[in-house]
Amino acid sequence: MNFDLLISDLNPTARQGSDALLVLLQDGYKPDSVAKEELSALVAQALKAGDIQTQAGKWLALYKPSPARASRVLLAGIGTGTPRQVRQAVTAALGALRSGTPAVKKLTVCFAAAPQAGSLRAAMMAVADASYVYTTTKSKADARSLTRVTLAVPQSVAKDSVQTEFQRAAATVAGIELAKEWANRPANHATPTHLGAAAQALAKLPRISCQVLGPKEVAKLKMGAFMAVAQGSEQPLRFIVLNYKGAAPSQAPTVLVGKGITFDTGGISIKPAGEMDEMKFDMGGAASVLGTFRALAELQPAINVVGLIPSCENMPDGRAIKPGDVVTSMSGQTIEILNTDAEGRLILCDALSYAERFKPAAVVDMATLTGACVIALGAVRSGLFSTSDDLAQRLLAAGEAAQDLAWRMPLDDDYAEGLKSNFADVANIAGRAAGAVTAAKFLQRFTEKFPWAHLDIAGTAWKGGAAKGATGRPVGLLLEFLLGHPAQALGKARRAAAVKR
Ligand code: BES
Ligand code: MN
Ligand code: ZN
Repeated sequence: MNFDLLISDLNPTARQGSDALLVLLQDGYKPDSVAKEELSALVAQALKAGDIQTQAGKWLALYKPSPARASRVLLAGIGTGTPRQVRQAVTAALGALRSGTPAVKKLTVCFAAAPQAGSLRAAMMAVADASYVYTTTKSKADARSLTRVTLAVPQSVAKDSVQTEFQRAAATVAGIELAKEWANRPANHATPTHLGAAAQALAKLPRISCQVLGPKEVAKLKMGAFMAVAQGSEQPLRFIVLNYKGAAPSQAPTVLVGKGITFDTGGISIKPAGEMDEMKFDMGGAASVLGTFRALAELQPAINVVGLIPSCENMPDGRAIKPGDVVTSMSGQTIEILNTDAEGRLILCDALSYAERFKPAAVVDMATLTGACVIALGAVRSGLFSTSDDLAQRLLAAGEAAQDLAWRMPLDDDYAEGLKSNFADVANIAGRAAGAVTAAKFLQRFTEKFPWAHLDIAGTAWKGGAAKGATGRPVGLLLEFLLGHPAQALGKARRAAAVKR
C-alpha cells in the first residue's frame, strides 16, 4: 500500500485526479459556500438541505460532481472526529466503494477540517485494513486493487506533527501487513525455517541484524523446555534473534519476545478437530515481532530493540513429549508437563531466560497463549500482565493511542498455587479457573531479572468465521510504545532540529 500526504484544502484537493474521493466531514465544519463551482459549495448545499449529516456513520455518494475530478465522491460524517469515529466512517465508506465497479485503484481521503491527533493514522489503518487481501497461496487471486492512497489535510494543520503521524502510520501499516502475511500463511508455508528466513530478509534493512539458531545451538544453550515441545515434529526448531540498533550500545534495549508455534495440534494432549486449522495462527506473537522490526527499519528511531522468536511445531509423534514428562528449562527450573497443549509457556520461558543477557530496560512478550483469555476479554482487548506498574501504564496508554487496546490483568501470587508439582519445581498447567492468569504466573517465574510485561493475544491476533484472518495486532500497540512521544522517537539529527524550532 502506497500512501501520500497532501497538505491542501478541500477544493484544490477535489481538483486533483483520482478514482474516488472520500471527504470526511466533522461536526461544526463550515464549508466555503461562496466559492461557486467548487466542491465546498456542493457540500454546503448538501449539509444545509440535510442530505448529508456529520454524524459518524452517515454518508452520501455522488457521481462525477462537476467540481471534482473523481468519478466517485463520497461525503462521510465523522462526528466529533475521534480516531475511533474516523476508523468506523472510513471502514464503512470503503465497504461502499468496494461494492462498485470498476475497482478503485487510486483513492483520496480528504479531511475537510484539521484532524484530531490520531485520526489521520486511524484513517490510514482503516483504509489498509479494508483493502487488504491475502493472495500468497491462491493460484488466481485478484491482487489488491487499491494501491495508491492520498491523505489530504487542510493547510490549517500543524504540519510537523501531521507529517510525523503520517510517517509513523505508513510504517505501522507496512509492519501490520507483514505480520498479517506471515500469520495468514498456512503452516506448511510458514514453518520455523520459513520464519527464520523472513527474519534474515529483514536483516537486509538498515540497522537490523539477525541470527537464526537451530537445534544444535539451542541444545548448547540448554533450552530444555523449548526443545521438549519441538521434539515431536519433523520440522527443526528455530530460535530467531533480531537486533535493531538505533542508539548507542550503552542504551539498554527493549526486548520483544514472540511465541512462534507455527502449528499447535496440542501434541499428545491433542486438540479437537473443529477449527484446529486456526492453530496456524499460533505464531501471531512472532509475526508481530517481524512486523514491528519492519516498521522500525523504516522509521529509524534512536532506540535499541531486540526481538526473540522461539519457533517450532507442537505435534503428536512417537518422539513427542508425554503428559507427566519432566524437563529442565534453561533457567535450571524443572517443569512437569501435565498437558502438552500448554506448549506456548514452555517455549517462552526459555526465550525469557535468554533475554537476560541483554540486560534489558524491559521485556514484553506477545503470545496467543490461552483460550481462557479469549473467554475473558474476547476480540476487543489483549490481556496485559506486568510486574511493573510503569511498564503496564505505558503499554495501556500506547494501546489506547494506537486503537490497539489491552486490559490489565492480575498477577497475585495466590494464582500460582495450582502450578505446584509433586515431581518438578513447577507444573505447566493449573486448573481451568483463571487460565490466562495461571499461564502468566508460570511465565513470571522466568522474569526476575527485568521489568516484564506479557500480552495474551489469543483473542486479538486473528478473526475467526467468515472474515477469518490475521489482524496484525499488536504491532500498532508495540510501535506506539517503542516510539513514545514523537520528539523522543526522531533520529538524533532530526531531534536536534526539532529542539531548535
Ligand atoms: N495456542 C493455544 C491457545 C489458544 C487457544 C489460542 C484457542 C487461541 C484460541 C495454547 O497453546 C493452548 O492450547 N492453551 C491451552 C492451555 C491449557 C491446556 C492449559 C488452552 O488455552 O486451552
Ligand atoms: Mn497449545
Ligand atoms: Zn499454542
